[in-house]
Amino acid sequence: MADNNLESLFPRLRRFPDVEAANLQAWDATDRLLLDTAAELRAAGQVASGGRIAVVGDRYGALTLGVLALGWHDAGPVRVHEDLITGERALRHNAAATGLTEGFEQLPLADAVEGAALVLLQLPRSLAELEEIADAVARHAASGVVLLAGGRLKHMSLGMNAVLERYFGEVQPQLARQKSRILLARAAKAIHGPPPFPVSERNSGLELTVCARGAVFAGTGLDIGTRFLLDFLPEIPSVRHAVDLGCGTGILAALYARSHPEARVTATDRSAAAVDSARATARANGLDRQIEVLQDDAMSTLPDACAELVLLNPPFHLGAAVHAGAGIKLIEAAARVLAPGGELWTVFNSHLHYQPALERLVGRTREVGRNPKFTVTASVRRPQP
Ligand SMILES: C[S@@+](CC[C@H](N)C(=O)[O-])C[C@H]1O[C@@H](n2cnc3c(N)ncnc32)[C@H](O)[C@@H]1O
Repeated sequence: MADNNLESLFPRLRRFPDVEAANLQAWDATDRLLLDTAAELRAAGQVASGGRIAVVGDRYGALTLGVLALGWHDAGPVRVHEDLITGERALRHNAAATGLTEGFEQLPLADAVEGAALVLLQLPRSLAELEEIADAVARHAASGVVLLAGGRLKHMSLGMNAVLERYFGEVQPQLARQKSRILLARAAKAIHGPPPFPVSERNSGLELTVCARGAVFAGTGLDIGTRFLLDFLPEIPSVRHAVDLGCGTGILAALYARSHPEARVTATDRSAAAVDSARATARANGLDRQIEVLQDDAMSTLPDACAELVLLNPPFHLGAAVHAGAGIKLIEAAARVLAPGGELWTVFNSHLHYQPALERLVGRTREVGRNPKFTVTASVRRPQP
C-alpha cells in the first residue's frame, strides 16, 4: 500500500517554478530511502508514533507529500523548512496538483524542528549549512529526536558525520541503496551558548563587514568571480535604482550602495539564508536605509522596467547539477526588469559562453574584461518593440 502511494505520487511532482528540463527530476532515490527508513523505524517503535515530524531541505515536496501520502496523520501537521523560495512554491504547487494541500506548515528552521520526534533531512551541500541545521535540531527538537539525514553518495563526505557527531551522541551510517545513504543521528547533546550562525567577518581589503548564515554562497568570503567584477566597479554607471540579483551575502549591493550614495539598491535572492545574510551585511555597514532586501525567485515580484542597473554573478549549479539554465533564467529576468537603456553587468566562467544569450535576451553586449577564468560583460537593454 505504502509503495503504491509513493509510486503514484512521485511521477506527478514537478520542479516548477524552478528550472525544468528532461534531465532534471523533482525527486530522487534519497527521498524514497528516507521515507522507507522512517517507515521501518515507526513500525519497529523506534520513533514515537504521534510525535511531531519535521522535514528540512525538501527540494520540491517529495518528502512532505510522501509523509502525507503514507498517512502518518497521527503525528499532526508536517512542519517543513526549505531554504529556497522556489522549493516552497514548488511544494505548494505539487500539493495542489496532488490534492494534498492540508497537513503541512512551512516555517523558519527553528520553528519547523521545535519539539520534533523525527526529522527527515535532505543533506545540504555545505558543511556550514549542515552545522546550522544540526544545531537547531539538537537545540529545539524533542529530547528523544531521531534525525534521518540522507544524500547521494557522490555528494556525501566524512565531514558530514563529523558535524553530526558534534551535536549527537550516536551517528550511524545506514546501508547504501541506489547510490543514496542515510546517516541516522540520535541522543542529541545539550547545547549551550549562542547558535553558530550567523557569523560576521571584517574583510579588510573591501573595508566591509560580511555576515553569513550557514547556507549562503561563499560564507563570509569573497568569491573570485565577484572579486573580478568588483575590479570594474568604478566603470559601472550611476543610477537611481540598482538590483543585486542573486545577492548572496550582499557584497555587490553593499559596495555599489556605498560608492553611489544617491542610489536605491534592491538585493534579492531565492535563498532565505542569503537574504538574512544580506540584510545583516547592509545593517553592519550602516547601509540598511539604502538597501532593500527581498526574498524572491528571479525578481518575480518586481515590476517590468523598474531598474536602470542589474549586477549579476549567476549560479553555476542547480542544486547538485551543473546546468546553464539557472543563469539563463536570471538573464531573462534582468531583461524584463531593466528599463530600456539600462545595463546588466555580469561575471561568468568564460567557458559558459553566455554572450549569445545576453545579446539575444537583453541587447548589445560588450566584453568589459577577461582573465584566465572569468569574463565580465555589460549589456544594454534594447528598447521594447
Ligand atoms: C554565484 S552566487 C552569487 C552570490 C553573490 N552575488 C556574490 O557575488 O557573492 C549566485 C546566487 O544566486 C542565487 N540564485 C540562484 N537562482 C536564483 C533565482 N532563481 N532567483 C534568485 N536568486 C537565485 C543563489 O541563491 C546564489 O546566492
